[in-house]
Amino acid sequence: MLKWRPLGFGFTLFVVISLVLLFYRAEDDEITAPLLKTLDIIPSVLSDAEILNVDWDDLDYPQSASHAEATHSRPEKNLDPITGRANATLLMLTRNSDLDEAVKSIESLERTFNHAHNYPWIFLNEEPFTATFKKRVATLTNASVQFGIIPREHWFQPDWIDEEKARQGRIRLQQFRGAYAESVSYRNMCRFYSGFFFWHELLQPYKWYWRVEPGVQFFCHLDFDPFAYMMENKKRYSFTLSMKEGPRTIPSLWSTVRSFTSLHPQYLARSNAHKFISEDKGHNYNLCHFWSNFEIADLDFFRSPAYTAFFSYLDGTGNFYYERWGDAPVHSIAASLFLPKDQIHFFGDIGYRHYPFQHCPQGDSWTRGKCECDVENNFDYQGDSCTGKFQALFDEIV
Ligand SMILES: *[C@@H]1O[C@H](CO)[C@@H](O)[C@H](O)[C@H]1NC(C)=O
Ligand SMILES: *[C@@H]1O[C@H](CO)[C@@H](O)[C@H](O)[C@H]1NC(C)=O
Repeated sequence: MLKWRPLGFGFTLFVVISLVLLFYRAEDDEITAPLLKTLDIIPSVLSDAEILNVDWDDLDYPQSASHAEATHSRPEKNLDPITGRANATLLMLTRNSDLDEAVKSIESLERTFNHAHNYPWIFLNEEPFTATFKKRVATLTNASVQFGIIPREHWFQPDWIDEEKARQGRIRLQQFRGAYAESVSYRNMCRFYSGFFFWHELLQPYKWYWRVEPGVQFFCHLDFDPFAYMMENKKRYSFTLSMKEGPRTIPSLWSTVRSFTSLHPQYLARSNAHKFISEDKGHNYNLCHFWSNFEIADLDFFRSPAYTAFFSYLDGTGNFYYERWGDAPVHSIAASLFLPKDQIHFFGDIGYRHYPFQHCPQGDSWTRGKCECDVENNFDYQGDSCTGKFQALFDEIV
C-alpha cells in the first residue's frame, strides 16, 4: 500500500528552485525557444527497410484534432476596417551591400502594388543596417519600415555541426558545380528561411507575409490585394514560379522526409498535393518545388506543430550544412504534404522576375495588369517548370 507522507523540506526546496529557474529561462529565451527544441531532438532517420509505406492518398489514420483544426478551419479575421489592410507584412532579407538591388525590388513592388496599400516593410540582416541603407529605403515608401537583426543562433552554423564534415560536403558539391556549393552564408540563409524567419520578433505580430528578394522585378499593376485574396479564398501558401531542384544539393532530403512522415503520419493533410512532388506515391521525389524567393503565405502555417516538427527533424540531421538543403524544397514539400492542395495557390496574375527566370501573365491578365513583360518570355510550361503539374492536380476533380 502507498501511504501519503508530507514532502520533505529538501524536496520542496528543489521544486521551488526548479520552478523559479523554469520561469526565468522561459522569459529570457522566448525568441530562441524553437532553437532549443531543435537541439533536443536528435532524429534517427529510418533506414529504407524501416520506413512504413504510408499511403499518401488514402489516409486512414486518425488526424490529431489540433492538426485537423489547423489545416481545415483556421479562424479568419477580416481586413482592418480603418487601414483596409490584412494582418500582413512585406519581408526582405538583405545585406547592406545589396542596397542597389534592394532598392530596385522595393521600387518595383511599391509602384505596382504597395503605394495603394502601404503594407509595412520589414528588413532583416545578420548585422546592423547602415544609416545609408535605412535612409535610401525609407524614401521609397510611405509605409512603415522596420529594420531588424537576426539572432545569431538563427543564422550562423551551429556549434554542433561537425565543420570538417561540412567542409567535405562543400567540396563534394563544388566538384559537381552545384550552385553556391562552397557558400556557408548561402546555407545559413536557406536554414534561416526554412526554420526561423517566422519566429523573428518583428514578424511575430503578423499572420501573412510576402517575401521579397533584392534584385527582383514585378511586371504588372495589381488591381487586387493578394493578401485579401488569400484570406477570402482560404489559401495559405502561394507561388508564381516553380521548377526542379538540383539533385546533388539534397541527396538525403527525401529519405529524411519519408522517415518523418512514417514516424508522424498524423501531420499529413487529407487531399494533399503529394502528386506535385512525387510520381509514385512518395517513393521518389520528382524534384519539383515552388520557387520560394517569391512567397505569399500564412506565417501560422510555418509556426504550426506539423511544420515546426518537420523543420526540427530535418535540421537535426545537420544536412542544411553537410549537404545544401534549400528552403524552396523544404517549404514546398511541407506545403504539399501538410496542407490540403486547395490551400495552395498559383498567382498567375503576378508578373515576376528573379534572374534568370520569369513568370509573365498570359491573356487577359497581361492586358488588365498593363504588364511590362514579353508574354512570350514565360517559364510556366518550359523545361524544368512544374507549374503544369501543379495545375493538373485540380483537373482530376472535374
Ligand atoms: C506618399 O504619399 C504622397 C501623398 O499621398 C504621394 O504624393 C507620394 O507619391 C507617396 N510616396 C510613395 C513612395 O508612394
Ligand atoms: C495578426 O496575426 C498574428 C499571428 O496570427 C496574431 O497573433 C495577431 O493577433 C494578429 N493581429 C490582429 C490585429 O489580428
